[in-house]
Amino acid sequence: MFQVSRLAILGGDGVQLLLNVENLVKRYAAGKSFGSREFLAALDGVSLSIQIATTLALVGESGSGKSTLALCVACLERPTSGSIWFDGRDVAALSEKQQRAVRPQIQLVFQDPSSSLNSRLTALEIVAEPLIIQRRFDKQARSKRACALLERVGISAKKAGSRPDEFSGGQRQRLAIARALALEPKLLILDEALSALDCSVQAQIANLLLELQFSLGLTYLFITHDFAMAAHLADEIAVMDHGRIVELGAAEKLLRSPEHEATRCLLAATPRFRGTANLPEGL
Ligand SMILES: Nc1ncnc2c1ncn2[C@@H]1O[C@H](COP(=O)(O)OP(=O)(O)OP(=O)(O)O)[C@@H](O)[C@H]1O
Ligand SMILES: [Mg+2]
Repeated sequence: MFQVSRLAILGGDGVQLLLNVENLVKRYAAGKSFGSREFLAALDGVSLSIQIATTLALVGESGSGKSTLALCVACLERPTSGSIWFDGRDVAALSEKQQRAVRPQIQLVFQDPSSSLNSRLTALEIVAEPLIIQRRFDKQARSKRACALLERVGISAKKAGSRPDEFSGGQRQRLAIARALALEPKLLILDEALSALDCSVQAQIANLLLELQFSLGLTYLFITHDFAMAAHLADEIAVMDHGRIVELGAAEKLLRSPEHEATRCLLAATPRFRGTANLPEGL
């Protein structure tokens, strides 16, 4: 039986949380020094939560631990300690077999779809593959659902027989999103999913994400370096620095009056927000 915690489902003010990460630690072995093993804390006591059908943007400099958090939440890495309450269950405490049942509900989309999309498969096969692995529907129903998903993300069913290298970068990312949606996840983790795209294509896919969230009630963990995109998509923003969340709050407030120096430094690198960064003299 799964553990159920009402505290994990309801936030302090009674809001419904889909994800509630508590004091998460992930240490990696980082070699040996004077004969004793050294560890690097990629996550050093991370706590955050996301309300159902909202977006939390996770921003932080390279190496701050964003992808490590994504992998732990998606049950692809085991945290060293802490809890990951998802939809009322602490997935960090589940066995491998129990996690397999949860994984379809949490899908990841990465920056480079070329590496995650099988180049030998057609668009239709790519989107239908998760359904085959999970033994959902018969062949005909799978194809129908895959075609509908392609259309849903803006790829014509006429292109269902094309392979990834016949699509543009933006279309490949749409394909990756369609595949991620195949198993009807509740949480979509987008790890720099727009970062490799041109500005205009980024904006189109961001709008697609907003439309999908509105129509399907999806919850997003949106990992980015780009505060402008975070401002466009997120309800809340969390800033990570050296494995910790150093600032978390409503997107508009955090962008208007950042408090932590790490947030101000990151904002200063975004031309649109440089004025609000209020950097100390010399930075
Ligand atoms: N499998 C691993 N083994 C050892 N160290 C790792 C491993 N994965 C990540 N790390 C280390 O953990 C820290 C956090 O890495 P992570 O990839 O989570 O950062 P990030 O914020 O996603 O960075 P980026 O913005 O560059 O993607 C880094 O110091 C990284 O070198
Ligand atoms: Mg990363």
